[in-house]
Amino acid sequence: MAREYRTDDWDDYRMTYGDPHRELEPLAEEVAVVRGALESLQEAGVLPHTEYDHDKMLAHRRAVQELFEIPWTAITPRMQRLLYAVNAITQPANMIAAGVFCGNTFISNAGAAVGPGACYTARNLVGVEIVPEEAGRAERNVRRIDSTGVARVVAADAVDVVREFPEPIHLLYLDADGTRQKGKGIYLDILQAGYDRMPEGAVVLAHNSVNSAERLAHYLDFVRDDAHFRASVNVILDAEGLEVSVK
Ligand SMILES: C[S@@+](CC[C@H](N)C(=O)[O-])C[C@H]1O[C@@H](n2cnc3c(N)ncnc32)[C@H](O)[C@@H]1O
Repeated sequence: MAREYRTDDWDDYRMTYGDPHRELEPLAEEVAVVRGALESLQEAGVLPHTEYDHDKMLAHRRAVQELFEIPWTAITPRMQRLLYAVNAITQPANMIAAGVFCGNTFISNAGAAVGPGACYTARNLVGVEIVPEEAGRAERNVRRIDSTGVARVVAADAVDVVREFPEPIHLLYLDADGTRQKGKGIYLDILQAGYDRMPEGAVVLAHNSVNSAERLAHYLDFVRDDAHFRASVNVILDAEGLEVSVK
């Protein structure tokens, strides 16, 4: 079933892409907005609860600020917290993030299991980036936070990596922008490549559910169909948005 969580200020809450660490609002406000999103995800049956360790989240944020090279990112502080919290709450053993660019989106997810924000032990956290130079930078960034190797970035097409992944996929994060022709329409190809290996309770996160809604129309129809996903919530807390779906 399709639902929505929308803040009043979603369109005014704006970041500068080249200045990813700038505080955009008081921390208490950010925490409250994300709490509202988590509560609406719990109500929809996507999340079992809304609790996560706020100090660990901030330790994760500090490590990324100190150690990552980020030329630009569209991940707002609200979105970073939401991604961290969803992973901390659902604790996916196997997580794949598709289209990770410099790795900031990947570590926003994986940071719940590696580095100073770790709150559980994962088996495989795989970031996929098709441009080798970007994949190289993302992998260097991740290595500065995770010495275990559980989180890693591969240079490849996410459709292939997801199709060939040999284990159940518990969380899939989608952010690849495909070819010029396909654009973010590639989300549905990536999802369908792994859908059969997603167990009941698996979560799919799709970035840009707001500002790429047109390109994502087929994807959004698919995840909002009860025959495919038990529930799906469009979380609109910034101008990008995140569609959160549970199988
Ligand atoms: C727009 S960026 C994501 C940036 C992210 N939203 C952020 O704010 O940091 C999308 C990335 O997906 C990558 N990409 C495009 N098609 C892909 C594919 N088929 N497999 C893996 N990565 C892909 C692009 O090279 C690009 O780095």
